[in-house]
Amino acid sequence: MTKSLVIYYSRAGQNYVNGDIVDLPVGNTEIVVNYIKEFTGADTFKVETVEDYPIDYMETTEVAKEELNNNARPELKEELTDISEYDIVYIASPNWWGTLPMALFTQLEKLDFTGKIVKTVVTHEGSGLGSTMGDVKKLCQGAEIKKGLAIHGAEAKNSKSNVERWVE
Ligand SMILES: Cc1cc2nc3c(=O)[nH]c(=O)nc-3n(C[C@H](O)[C@H](O)[C@H](O)COP(=O)(O)O)c2cc1C
Repeated sequence: MTKSLVIYYSRAGQNYVNGDIVDLPVGNTEIVVNYIKEFTGADTFKVETVEDYPIDYMETTEVAKEELNNNARPELKEELTDISEYDIVYIASPNWWGTLPMALFTQLEKLDFTGKIVKTVVTHEGSGLGSTMGDVKKLCQGAEIKKGLAIHGAEAKNSKSNVERWVE
């Protein structure tokens, strides 16, 4: 039987949706992750940083920009070390300044992706996949990288059938 794992990052709280700041009880990416789980029975691993990002959306974007510019590797509360039991690894992420949050870099570069199938889904506010696929290729060496899926954050709730088609 095929075993799947979703590695994801998602930041609940203040977010920018169609031009307005709204408070999301569940992050957009996590909504998509729940659909992936429903369709595939995948295990999930949520990447969480030791240091919380600011509650304020704009402040978070500034912190994240600095992390990207410094090629930072934020410390994580918990790290996965072994994914050998999985055949398919889903990477689910918001688009932060065109790519994955640096916290996902911290996690992904510690894993051995040899022989895995990797499927990437990104939620975004207009930039689509940005440069995530190039970065995923670098971070998941030895994996077969499938076509990525971009979902507009505000459409996360309505993306169920899209996600269903993409996981098949
Ligand atoms: C720090 C930060 C940077 C972001 N940068 C971009 C960006 O460059 N392009 C874009 O389309 N959306 C950007 N967004 C919007 C998020 O990608 C979008 O709201 C996403 O759905 C959030 O997912 P989440 O709720 O799971 O964290 C950014 C959001 C944050 C918090």
